[in-house]
Amino acid sequence: MPMTRRGMLRGMARLGGAGAVYETLAAWDFLKPPPAMAASLALPRESGQGKTVAILGAGVSGLCTAYELDRAGYTCIILEPTRRAGGRSLTLRRGDRFQEMGHDAQECTFDDGQYLNAGPGRIPHHHVHVIDYCRRFNVALEPYIFASRANLIRSGTPEAGKTRPVREAYHSLQGHVAELLDKCSRRPELELPIGKDDLEKLQEMLVQFGDLSPADRSSKNTAYSYKNQHARAGYERPPGVADPGKPLSPLKLEEILRSNVWDDWLFRDGEVYWQTSLMQPTGGMDMFFKGFLRQPLSRQLGTLEGLIRYGAKATEIDVQGDRVRINYVDSGTPRTLDADYCVSTIPMSIFRNMKTNLPAPFMEAAKKLPIMAAGKVGWQAPRFWEIDANIYGGISWTSETIDQIWYPSSGYLSATGVLTGAYMRGDAAVEFNKRPVADRLRIARQQGERLHPGYTQHVQHGLAIGWNNMEFQQGGWADEDAGDFGPNVQVLAQPQGRFIVAGDHITFWSGWQEGALLAAWHAVAAIDKQVRPAGGG
Ligand code: PHE
Repeated sequence: MPMTRRGMLRGMARLGGAGAVYETLAAWDFLKPPPAMAASLALPRESGQGKTVAILGAGVSGLCTAYELDRAGYTCIILEPTRRAGGRSLTLRRGDRFQEMGHDAQECTFDDGQYLNAGPGRIPHHHVHVIDYCRRFNVALEPYIFASRANLIRSGTPEAGKTRPVREAYHSLQGHVAELLDKCSRRPELELPIGKDDLEKLQEMLVQFGDLSPADRSSKNTAYSYKNQHARAGYERPPGVADPGKPLSPLKLEEILRSNVWDDWLFRDGEVYWQTSLMQPTGGMDMFFKGFLRQPLSRQLGTLEGLIRYGAKATEIDVQGDRVRINYVDSGTPRTLDADYCVSTIPMSIFRNMKTNLPAPFMEAAKKLPIMAAGKVGWQAPRFWEIDANIYGGISWTSETIDQIWYPSSGYLSATGVLTGAYMRGDAAVEFNKRPVADRLRIARQQGERLHPGYTQHVQHGLAIGWNNMEFQQGGWADEDAGDFGPNVQVLAQPQGRFIVAGDHITFWSGWQEGALLAAWHAVAAIDKQVRPAGGG
């Protein structure tokens, strides 16, 4: 009996899931990737035949580069200096070991099933390349809560050294600002640049925006005032049986202003890349790059992971007109690799000190690219934040060094969970990460205590990672806000003959896996352009 296409696809779906079906359809060219699917670099299948590409680094950018080039028929070799893939995407579980330069080795002792995303930990809904590869590779995503109004905020200024729920500060501030604007809008001498009809609309809107209460119900023209009438800022006494409850008296405007809590924690969920909820791979961020690792190679047996040479550290890059020569040390033995092209994802803080024959202005740009440090602390603990503070995910903020505490967005009501007990970047991270691990954990304990009484007793199995202390990262991510970023990425993004830089650090999504993917596509396209000068466009 002839096998129908549908029957075969169903069989395949049982073997390999929807991803296998998709791959097969794509391989047969029955299915053109839909235009809305970002993860469809349309290189002709055999266009890279006979060409080799050396990829430096098996992080997200290197893996994506290898995946796309392999599909187009290129022969790829990934040189990775460590014994694991993923780069800064690191999920720590029981038994995992790591060591920072100049610090004690650490081993994760969490219970089975618990993990810390020590690198990236969240995916915004508009990072379509990340999401599309998740779709393609069957990587399950679940919500990552960035902000809950139950999260805490603690300012160290003398005016407000108190820990409060975000809700209280946020809605009190919004209410007061609405009230002020309402008052201004009623002062003819201010000559607001708004027509009379729109002014009325503005006033109506402010009532909604700030939960304003009419000062005098009989007159439409009196200013409104903010009283936390509908308890957005919280209750002093919660509603009960035949009892509407009693809203809290709002925080005073001066108190909020002096506390500095508006600078900038309160508004972080307004950033386009953060927002109140994001996504995370179920089971750990490493599920994402592992999706690449398990993809079957297009022209040989084995998976993408088979292309990685672990323990192979590039030491010198020599770019010639017809090839790129990479000198590397393979578990202590010096070796040489000649490839037609080379894509380097080596972090700039390391790359800039490497021996290369690249033009001086290019290496100069690498030197100048501003790279920020970043540090995290992780704890396993009984879920006291759920029981004591009604916190189910999100982040609490403090003006102290730890800066923030992340709560797990999954596993609610189970016995234990993992907290990110500190996450700082820039100079604060440089200072913090200089300290011995035990010191960092002690500080994180003490400062956490000021957000959650009893914290010190609850948190266990501490881990501290300073990305600038890691030998093969030596930094967190590039600082897009620094003046030196823009002009230097313009230089670094230019292919240098057969040598091309990838990695999130050359994108305006630095510090995001989306940037790593964008840079990978950019590198793949740059190679394709050289191989097929008249091709695709
Ligand atoms: N993506 C990381 C985070 O969400 C680092 C980052 C922060 C990158 C802010 C850019 C801006 O924390």
